[in-house]
Amino acid sequence: MVTGGAGFVGSHLCERLLSRGDDVVCVDDLSTGRAGNVAHLLDHPGFRFVHQDVTEGLEVSGPVDAVYHLASPASPRDYLRLPVETLLVGSYGTRNALELARRHGAAFLLTSTSEVYGDPQVHPQPESYWGNVNPVGPRSVYDEAKRFGEALTMAYRRTRGVRTTIVRIFNTYGPRMRADDGRAVPAFVTQSLAGLPLTVTGDGSQTRSLCYVDDLVTGLVRALEAGVPGPVNLGNPEEVTMRRLALTIREICGSSSEVTFVPRPQDDPMLRRPDISAARRELGWAPGTALADGLARTVAWFREACSPGALSLPELVHSRPVPAPPTRRRRPASSGPTAGPDSPRKGDTLHDPAGTLRRQTA
Ligand SMILES: NC(=O)c1ccc[n+]([C@@H]2O[C@H](COP(=O)([O-])OP(=O)(O)OC[C@H]3O[C@@H](n4cnc5c(N)ncnc54)[C@H](O)[C@@H]3O)[C@@H](O)[C@H]2O)c1
Repeated sequence: MVTGGAGFVGSHLCERLLSRGDDVVCVDDLSTGRAGNVAHLLDHPGFRFVHQDVTEGLEVSGPVDAVYHLASPASPRDYLRLPVETLLVGSYGTRNALELARRHGAAFLLTSTSEVYGDPQVHPQPESYWGNVNPVGPRSVYDEAKRFGEALTMAYRRTRGVRTTIVRIFNTYGPRMRADDGRAVPAFVTQSLAGLPLTVTGDGSQTRSLCYVDDLVTGLVRALEAGVPGPVNLGNPEEVTMRRLALTIREICGSSSEVTFVPRPQDDPMLRRPDISAARRELGWAPGTALADGLARTVAWFREACSPGALSLPELVHSRPVPAPPTRRRRPASSGPTAGPDSPRKGDTLHDPAGTLRRQTA
């Protein structure tokens, strides 16, 4: 099971698991993900999609070997727009995913985040660093939800016998990021392709370390299968300033957009770079994709998505959800602010020929 499987990272994880022969149940409420991210998987016999808010409950009949729990708004723009939902999916949603793993004797992986380190006073950040988080600032809805999720996961490991793993993901990028999610890579790519000014926050000297999504997915699978409790940092230790990133993307796009500077958001961390010694030691994992290569693939995807017949660039920038293809079961009325005309409705099972999935409310 992959919760949040119709999101950016989750859709790549579903693909990876299917490609090696696993059956995958993808559960997603499409609050920040898109049906279009998994539309190409719907006819795969091993794939099932359940449109479900995991804070309401989570059940699947039949055996479950592994639960990858990714469901959560992830970009600052999304979690600031959905503050209560973010706290609830980090608490109730994580509880429901852990309970499912416990009932089925499945391995469980929590995708936590580098945001648990807050604005770090230790650089680079090892897992032993406890962080510097403002517990009542606007970003606390995400940071504290993930910190609570980590504590709950450890409690289930210690007292309920669930085989759990916590990974802390640092900034990841790649195809299927939403153009309007507010993160730097899709913003700079779409601005460059449209010839719009590149909006760098602050003076652009703040750093991030960017991991290509394929590398991250390898780390997720390896971490769950190794069964290490973690937390384990997964990210790219190569640091880049936001200004350098903007200039690199502009060059790859062949754009002449100007660079402009806008105010930095509150509690935006100045430095971000993982210490991945534990991932190297315990998982034999390190990212292998050079930034220039990963960015080139990402730009190619955005170009394709903007090509004639696909979404236009303004649509991408405003990120209309990509409608799902016609489904086997269709319900009459649309629901939810992000639902397109053919998008699945809450509670729909898009591919469940055996009828083994059902919607359950807590
Ligand atoms: N991408 C990154 O750089 C990054 C960094 C750190 C951590 N993470 C973590 O990785 C996970 C995936 O992130 P992403 O970048 O793919 O984000 P995303 O927003 O693209 O994907 C998250 C998915 O979860 C779904 N979701 C949200 N709330 C839900 C709910 N209540 N019930 C069911 N589904 C729900 C969304 O619809 C979406 O499809 C998240 O848990 C995030 O915190 C990502």
